[in-house]
Amino acid sequence: MKWRWCFSIVLVLLVHHMEMELAMALSAKDVTPPLVPTTMKKTISPKWRVPVARPRPKIIPPTPTELAYLSPTHYLKSCPNLEAIIQQKVNAWVKRDYTMAASIIRLHFHDCAVRGCDASILLNHAGSERRALASKTLRGFELIDEIKAEVETSCPPKTVSCADILTAAARDATVMAGGPFWEVPFGRKDGRVSLANEANSVPQGHENVTALIEFFQARGLNILDLVILSGSHTIGRSTCYSIRQRLSTDNINLKYLNSLRRQCNNSNININLNRFVDLDATTPKTFDEIYYTNLEKKMGLLQTDQLLYSDARTSPLVAALASQPSLFFNQFAVSMIKLGNVQVRTAGEVRLNCDYVNP
Ligand code: HEM
Ligand SMILES: *[C@@H]1O[C@H](CO)[C@@H](O)[C@H](O)[C@H]1NC(C)=O
Ligand SMILES: *[C@@H]1O[C@H](CO)[C@@H](O)[C@H](O)[C@H]1NC(C)=O
Repeated sequence: MKWRWCFSIVLVLLVHHMEMELAMALSAKDVTPPLVPTTMKKTISPKWRVPVARPRPKIIPPTPTELAYLSPTHYLKSCPNLEAIIQQKVNAWVKRDYTMAASIIRLHFHDCAVRGCDASILLNHAGSERRALASKTLRGFELIDEIKAEVETSCPPKTVSCADILTAAARDATVMAGGPFWEVPFGRKDGRVSLANEANSVPQGHENVTALIEFFQARGLNILDLVILSGSHTIGRSTCYSIRQRLSTDNINLKYLNSLRRQCNNSNININLNRFVDLDATTPKTFDEIYYTNLEKKMGLLQTDQLLYSDARTSPLVAALASQPSLFFNQFAVSMIKLGNVQVRTAGEVRLNCDYVNP
């Protein structure tokens, strides 16, 4: 049976590839100790620390800005109730409207993807990221504003940054959707620059895998982070607009295609932003590994999701994640911390209102 041979070879390559990726992810973490809180180490399952008995990549010393501190205890004295406030607000909003969990996670990604995690996505002025075409369906701004208002009254003014609030809210939203918990390092400052054309450079679902890898790499995120963080699409929705090209590809399950056509059929499909489809057709409300098993069945919603299972650089990771929920959960926590550390600024201002820079 030829395919059995093929399968064994793929399996061997896959295991090797995963080990390399994990070893690299772990050692990359080890070279920037100030960004990785010691408490975080406890949340990484010990088995992912095992495969590091191979030569490590060259160690690049951290730059002075990277050495600036982010720490889970940053607000311990200045705003001891911070995490309780954030969690209480996120839980209340998600209980009222479960779709808010996905929207907050996406908002955090769009913040970090442009000028780092500096709350630049929240700035609401003409020509800002938030006003960009690519940001049209971002949601959750009001939740962040509500958290910020309460934090401003409970703690000294201008102490807790909007970037930190959004980062912790994304963690709490993940937990509310049934995903993993992780310790959030704090100490980000808020940015003062926000440009619509930069927001439009965030991947929109029609890119090729090379473009995705390069976009992530430019932000210090590797191929494993790409595949893991795309797993956020285990919850949430997309507009029919974002999948318009997907409806005319052949890399798609036929029954699924018909169902999408039914859900999206609209004469104005090319401009319609009001019709939504679930990103995970099987378990749309639950944070689980089914996103990856969908890809194996050609049931990825976005073109970029499905391509992760077509490209040799990413498909072994998809296959491994589809069969190992604990691997997905453990690595999701690690990759989200990396996302939250992208180009963070530790000097600058803490906004009074998340929608506007300080006067
Ligand atoms: C790999 C590149 C990525 C692409 C091309 C991509 C693309 C998209 C697109 C097109 C949508 C639907 C938008 C709409 O039509 O309204 C979406 C939704 C979403 N994305 Fe991504 N995304 C990517 C990475 C990420 C990452 C890294 C995260 C989080 C860490 C994320 C979290 C989400 C979530 C949770 C939703 C659902 C939002 C909601 O229901 O409101 N995505 N993404
Ligand atoms: C992938 O996309 C990039 C950017 O759009 C483009 O320059 C490149 O030619 C594409 N590569 C392939 C193999 O299609
Ligand atoms: C919408 O439905 C019509 C008739 O049922 C069909 O001809 C058309 O191709 C459909 N459009 C899309 C985008 O699927």
